[in-house]
Amino acid sequence: MNRIDLEGRVAVVTGGARGIGLATVERMLASGASAIIWDMDGTAIDEAVARLGPKASGRVVELTDERAVNEAARQAFGEAGKVDILVNNAGITGGNGKTWELSPEIWRKTVEVNLIAPFLTCRAMVPMMMEKGYGRIINIASIAGKEGNPNASHYSASKAGLIGLTKSLGKELAGSGILVNCVTPAAARTAIFDQMSQEHIDYMLSKIPLGRFVEPAEIAAMIAWLASEDCSFSTGAVFDISGGRAVY
Ligand SMILES: NC(=O)c1ccc[n+]([C@@H]2O[C@H](COP(=O)([O-])OP(=O)(O)OC[C@H]3O[C@@H](n4cnc5c(N)ncnc54)[C@H](O)[C@@H]3O)[C@@H](O)[C@H]2O)c1
Repeated sequence: MNRIDLEGRVAVVTGGARGIGLATVERMLASGASAIIWDMDGTAIDEAVARLGPKASGRVVELTDERAVNEAARQAFGEAGKVDILVNNAGITGGNGKTWELSPEIWRKTVEVNLIAPFLTCRAMVPMMMEKGYGRIINIASIAGKEGNPNASHYSASKAGLIGLTKSLGKELAGSGILVNCVTPAAARTAIFDQMSQEHIDYMLSKIPLGRFVEPAEIAAMIAWLASEDCSFSTGAVFDISGGRAVY
């Protein structure tokens, strides 16, 4: 593992109680940062924090709830004095189905969690990051947002929206010291697979030229670099980690 220097940095990782978010928290801690997990699953937060030690902490946050996000942001800045890194990682698939078979409720819910919630966290945190003149925001999108997976129009559209948010916000914050980027992973075997049909999982694997799923730790390594000062001339950008699937 390369040593990435995040010494003294404070990171908020949404959905950090498991999966890619938890791997990101682990990599942040290994790089010298402290990490705050925001997740709706209090039990999983407690287990993670107990295992990870004193530089990890957590708070139950329903990320689609504007008031809860604002309160969590105030607490994080109040207690730590700053937040240098925001990783918008929490997400859901919303299941699989043809567009015309998906309910409006699940379509809206998927967009709420995958796109509106990152907007809410950025809205709450960016002004406070601007006061400090420094920040790294990393949004976890998906190859689905670039390519549009069949039987996942809600998920693909929400992730395409997150790519658009990344590009707009990156330009708005150019010169502020805050860089905004996103990553677009191919499939990783995490608990999120429970929200997808086996047919869809097989489809995603069949599209990856490297012939395997990406490991959460591999995604975390890219996120950690994007969260570091070494990332200094990239903003509003999309970083591929799709095992060769992406063609642009
Ligand atoms: N695993 C993959 O194949 C894959 C591929 C590309 C992109 N992604 C993206 O990576 C991110 C993480 O995926 P993962 O596989 O680790 O998922 P996961 O299901 O393992 O973990 C997601 C975490 O987010 C939390 N969460 C979900 N909705 C929330 C809400 N409304 N409020 C608070 N917390 C909430 C969950 O409690 C959970 O701990 C997601 O945005 C996902 O879309 C995953």
